[in-house]
Amino acid sequence: MTSDDIERTGAVRQPDSAGAIGAGPGGAAEDDAPPRRRAVLGAVLGAATVGAAGAGTIASARAAGSTAAEDSTPAGTGAASDDTAPGRFRDQVVLITGATSGIGEATARAFAAEGAKVSFCGRRTELGRKVESEIRAAGGDATYLRADVRVPEQVKKFVDDTVRIYGRIDVAFNNAGITRTAPLHELDLETWEDVHRTNARGVFLSIKYQVPHMLRTGGGVIICTSSGSVRPAGTAYTASKHAIDGIIKTAALDYGTRGIRVNAILPGTTDTALVRLEGISDEQWEEFKEAWGPLNVDGMERLATPEEIARSVVSLAQADAFSFMTGSTVYVAGGPHGGGKMHMPEGFS
Ligand SMILES: NC(=O)c1ccc[n+]([C@@H]2O[C@H](COP(=O)([O-])OP(=O)(O)OC[C@H]3O[C@@H](n4cnc5c(N)ncnc54)[C@H](OP(=O)(O)O)[C@@H]3O)[C@@H](O)[C@H]2O)c1
Repeated sequence: MTSDDIERTGAVRQPDSAGAIGAGPGGAAEDDAPPRRRAVLGAVLGAATVGAAGAGTIASARAAGSTAAEDSTPAGTGAASDDTAPGRFRDQVVLITGATSGIGEATARAFAAEGAKVSFCGRRTELGRKVESEIRAAGGDATYLRADVRVPEQVKKFVDDTVRIYGRIDVAFNNAGITRTAPLHELDLETWEDVHRTNARGVFLSIKYQVPHMLRTGGGVIICTSSGSVRPAGTAYTASKHAIDGIIKTAALDYGTRGIRVNAILPGTTDTALVRLEGISDEQWEEFKEAWGPLNVDGMERLATPEEIARSVVSLAQADAFSFMTGSTVYVAGGPHGGGKMHMPEGFS
């Protein structure tokens, strides 16, 4: 079974409070479930794909600007020192993995609104082009480059093409991620490996290919998307996200004296496709969220919006605000527990 097969056969894509919410393949298909629950179970069992996966090369590079000037300005220093002013990232280059939807998409829009030149990837070409054209229509500068973070050659090409198009990388937001759920003994090796190839190895590869460009231009800022999810049936996801902690801490040691700050952001449950049970109606989703917040988000008792997380990423990337922060994970979780507490609301599974 290949990675693509896993996605097509849909080893269940489920919420993540900072990780996945729903039941995994081990979740029962009870015939006596109430209608709402049946809908949810149907969605759970009906397979969840995370977009059209597959090999394929990076497509659609913007032809223009392939020889963008390089300069010796220390990267990630922030174009403006006033951190409330619009255009804080004017003329800086921001690379984002996994920005065809959710947190990454919102972050691409937020950086572009701050004047950054944004290069982003994801596998769903149609969505990528849509995000790209909407950012451009709003007056921003963005380029979608199709890349699958599980494939080393594609990650390298995405990073190198970004530099070819925009000249440098000041900020990298390594955000692409998937979730799959199953009790540990029912978790098949292919699923475990696919989650790790995406969430952990994908981050490793991204940093590996980003760093040489940042060293060449004097430094930069790297932010990775972590998760505080610790829940039953969450072995693959939780382990893969905990790996990010190790990666950012050791990378911070490798590059601390060389101008590259490496941190992680840890969002609490955020209202994105990753956490929405498939097949659920908008009304059911609103009910779910209303119940989920008080049950699981100690503190604010609600889910975050992708835009809230995006604003935090943009702030964190500012060198003038966080010049002494590296190797840290920043909780943006609506409460102190970062989504570790995860109880399924009654009527949902
Ligand atoms: N939502 C939450 O509650 C929450 C909480 C904590 C952490 N997180 C983390 O936040 C990140 C973003 O998730 P989200 O909630 O915004 O969900 P999402 O809307 O599903 O976004 C996931 C993004 O990752 C991309 N992606 C997945 N596999 C990829 C691959 N192999 N290659 C390239 N891109 C890939 C997806 O693009 P394609 O499908 O087009 O490839 C998509 O753009 C993930 O790392 C997730 O673990 C989410």
